[in-house]
Amino acid sequence: KQSDDQLVIDAGQRQFGATTCSSCGMLYSPDSVEDNFQHTQFHQRFLETIKFVGWKKERVVAEFWDGKIILVLPDDPKYATRKAEDVRHIADSELGFQQVALCSPNSVKTYLFVNSDRMVVGCLVAEPIKQAFRVLDQPEKSKDMRKEDFMDRHRPWCCSTLPERALCGVSRIWVFSLMRRRGIATRLLDTLRNSYMYGSHLTKEEIAFSDPTPDGQLFATKYCGT
Ligand code: ACO
Ligand code: ZN
Repeated sequence: KQSDDQLVIDAGQRQFGATTCSSCGMLYSPDSVEDNFQHTQFHQRFLETIKFVGWKKERVVAEFWDGKIILVLPDDPKYATRKAEDVRHIADSELGFQQVALCSPNSVKTYLFVNSDRMVVGCLVAEPIKQAFRVLDQPEKSKDMRKEDFMDRHRPWCCSTLPERALCGVSRIWVFSLMRRRGIATRLLDTLRNSYMYGSHLTKEEIAFSDPTPDGQLFATKYCGT
């Protein structure tokens, strides 16, 4: 019974009435009671999480006409590390990560992009690494895939077996859905490269993306190619 109801809701959503909330970016169907409930819950929590009230001590590492980038380090005051963690959880749930623990929590650097409306709309989590495996281009598969092919496609990206030197791993990069394609991820990465190591500038080759999503893959290809 439960699953039948769910099917009706899902099918209805796809056919008509689905809208994207212009504040939180959630896609939902206002005609559905269940959807409305879920949206109300998500909406408040999301906006509360990305709200940035301003801190006594802000480590501003870059400023732009439409915002600034703040670096948060593990030993910063609780209000800062807490915000970094909350935003990271949002990114994780959107990426489908099971709130995975960080590899090296004591040396993690979190870059937050705060826009002029005082919202954290971008987040980059960087960790030191020693080596990485380059992601290889995957050949496009035909439309009528067998199950094994399908599984293959959804497996982590195909990587070379040759380790390459890298210094900095980007374990997560996330931009609020309504703020994408405005160069926010690009500016987060540029700022990371300029500020990661004191007095030096990381090359694009010294940065590695861990487990990129399809979005991340498209972005990384573009970023590293330019
Ligand atoms: N499709 C095609 N090209 C893209 C896409 C996309 N979805 N996203 C970025 N690009 C390319 C474009 O060429 C773009 O330039 P253009 O807009 O002038 O064409 C260029 O990359 C630069 O894009 P930005 O505006 O700097 O990227 P944005 O701020 O939109 O953020 C990001 C990109 C972080 C991937 C965002 O889409 C996102 O948060 N997605 C969901 C979370 C995610 O998948 N993150 C990556 C996970 S991998 C990891 O964390 C290691
Ligand atoms: Zn909303």
